[in-house]
Amino acid sequence: MEKMTYALITFGCQMNLHDAERIRGALHARGWSECEPRYAEAVILLTCCVRESAERKLYGRLSSLKPLKEKRDTIIAVGGCLAQKEGTRLIAQAPYVDVVFGTHQYPHIADLLEQAGGGAVCSTALSGVRISGIPCSRLEEFRAWITITHGCDNFCSYCIVPYVRGSEVSRPLEDVAEEVGAHVAEGVREINLLGQNVDSYRRKEEGKSRFADLLRLLGSRYPEAWIRFTTSHPRDFDLAIVRSIAETANVCEYVHLPLQAGSDRILAAMNRGYRRAEYQVKVDELRRCVPGVSLTTDVIVGFPGESEEDFAATLEMLELCRFDGAFTFLYNPREMTAAADLPDDVDARVKQDRLRRVMEISRRLTSASLRGEVGSEQTVLVHGPSRKDPRRWSARTRNNKLVHFQRGEVNLTGVFARVEITAAGSWSLHGELKEILG
Ligand code: SAM
Ligand code: SF4
Ligand code: F3S
Repeated sequence: MEKMTYALITFGCQMNLHDAERIRGALHARGWSECEPRYAEAVILLTCCVRESAERKLYGRLSSLKPLKEKRDTIIAVGGCLAQKEGTRLIAQAPYVDVVFGTHQYPHIADLLEQAGGGAVCSTALSGVRISGIPCSRLEEFRAWITITHGCDNFCSYCIVPYVRGSEVSRPLEDVAEEVGAHVAEGVREINLLGQNVDSYRRKEEGKSRFADLLRLLGSRYPEAWIRFTTSHPRDFDLAIVRSIAETANVCEYVHLPLQAGSDRILAAMNRGYRRAEYQVKVDELRRCVPGVSLTTDVIVGFPGESEEDFAATLEMLELCRFDGAFTFLYNPREMTAAADLPDDVDARVKQDRLRRVMEISRRLTSASLRGEVGSEQTVLVHGPSRKDPRRWSARTRNNKLVHFQRGEVNLTGVFARVEITAAGSWSLHGELKEILG
């Protein structure tokens, strides 16, 4: 077959960014090569549908590709979560789309693209995704993302993810370890374990969570690499996991633990499976056992029936847990989900005002958390030149705080270094290079 070219445009979360690495791997293995969309024979969009805004973004981008189709007969393929949700509806809405592929179909991407041309192809069966043994073409040389669980069984009442990613499956422990080993042998410095709920890793297959065991195993086998993980679920994040973070030297002191809401009534309506007091006990335990840990969260405001009192409970939890950062969202009803049947009854202006108030507190907490680092010396992993100011390096501390420091002659991308933290801004730290660790 002649050499084919593709361009890949990714929306959505880290899961999609990593699926994109797998799609690249699968296509490269079949002799495809990557180029800019305007020269590509196939343009692939990897989509998100977690909120309506994500859908709008996709349709905007899709219509901007129409001229390419008309001029060069470019193959247009749409995959990922929105493609899974819409299926043939997507083709009806955008008839110039050639291929729609769902979240379990990306290992077959080369076949699907090669079939295009004889009419639109729609492949969205949730037939069980293959997550082992698929080639991966990493976006970065020094950081690797590794899926440990795929899909989700939690069915939080607002969330569409279980419907579009399918039910949760975990990879075998040794299989994950082998992939980590291959990345580390290629010089990767940071491993990021990925799952919608990493804390339930292998619970379904083995009857109990093996996540703490996985952290310990990877920590002892690959001590030279930093290990991170996302996302944790407050119901399943337990003491064994806290201890494994505390006792495994190369597991980084950073946890993203989405709270979503601070009122027990709303947490129950969200089907989150924990109460605020339990959440707080876990946070206290984490802060006690893992000194310097940084804790971030997700918060949804304006869930159906959220009263001012419920909302006040969320604000109170933000202060009590002293989050180092919070991602905040306006509730947005999603079709298929249980909450979509509830009246979306919080007035739009009230929702906006609540969002503003949550963001105000979270900004203040983030600033305080950054100020707390000033004067310390930290090991950082350098990610590359800062996008805003290329005269500076952009790096992350073990507890995932962004640090900028002056660039010199030597290329430090992907290198560990010691940096003294000299000042704190609103979102990042400033530092001075003390030592290059290599
Ligand atoms: N599995 C992770 C978890 O349990 O938090 C991440 C799920 S989701 C991709 C990321 C965040 O989007 C959620 O934590 C939630 O705060 C937000 N989100 C999901 N559905 C939403 C909705 N319908 N409206 C507003 N925010 C939503
Ligand atoms: Fe969505 Fe809840 Fe699953 Fe996270 S745990 S992906 S919020 S259903
Ligand atoms: Fe991620 Fe969006 Fe899908 S947040 S899991 S790409 S719906």
